[in-house]
Amino acid sequence: MSEKSEMIQQTLVLIKPDGLKKSLTGNILTRLSETKLEIVAAKIVRVTRALAEEHYRSMKDKPFFEELIQYLKGELHDRRKVIAMVYWGPDAIQKVRQLAGATNPEEAEATSIRGSFGRITTKGLYENVLHASTDESEAEREIKLWFEPDEVIVDLYPTETKTIEKEKRQVWA
Ligand code: CDP
Ligand code: MG
Repeated sequence: MSEKSEMIQQTLVLIKPDGLKKSLTGNILTRLSETKLEIVAAKIVRVTRALAEEHYRSMKDKPFFEELIQYLKGELHDRRKVIAMVYWGPDAIQKVRQLAGATNPEEAEATSIRGSFGRITTKGLYENVLHASTDESEAEREIKLWFEPDEVIVDLYPTETKTIEKEKRQVWA
């Protein structure tokens, strides 16, 4: 057989604020567990404007950009957080995108996550409950944006050791 062998990949998944507001976390995790991929990083993030704008920087020129930033920040759902995760394993990118479904929830397969739970707002924004990276370079950019190396339990990308002096950070008192 000349079947192309599967590539070990990593992909960023965000449960967006509408997914959290609709209490879909358990459901989405269960659906994604069908992939048999491993979760190698996970956290809850309060999304700043800077993070949202960087995440969606390729959408900068879209008429709905401002709306999209407010959406990711949770301003449309009174849930100012997202759950960020890295899924890792064979063909991770395509497997997660497949289960997620098309960007437009009306066009997404009815059985997909977005098809099941997404909606289009009256303003025309696609509230599609989760984000998933579309290719390896996007995954790399996004994982590095959302996670520090020591927050991921496998070595995904090269790292370097840096001594950071006089860095202020919050520690347990
Ligand atoms: O999220 P995905 O990669 O499937 O789609 P995208 O083209 O990268 O767009 C990013 C996000 O912008 C989508 O997930 C939607 O929330 C939003 N979007 C929208 O509201 N209306 C569109 N016509 C396209 C995207
Ligand atoms: Mg995208």
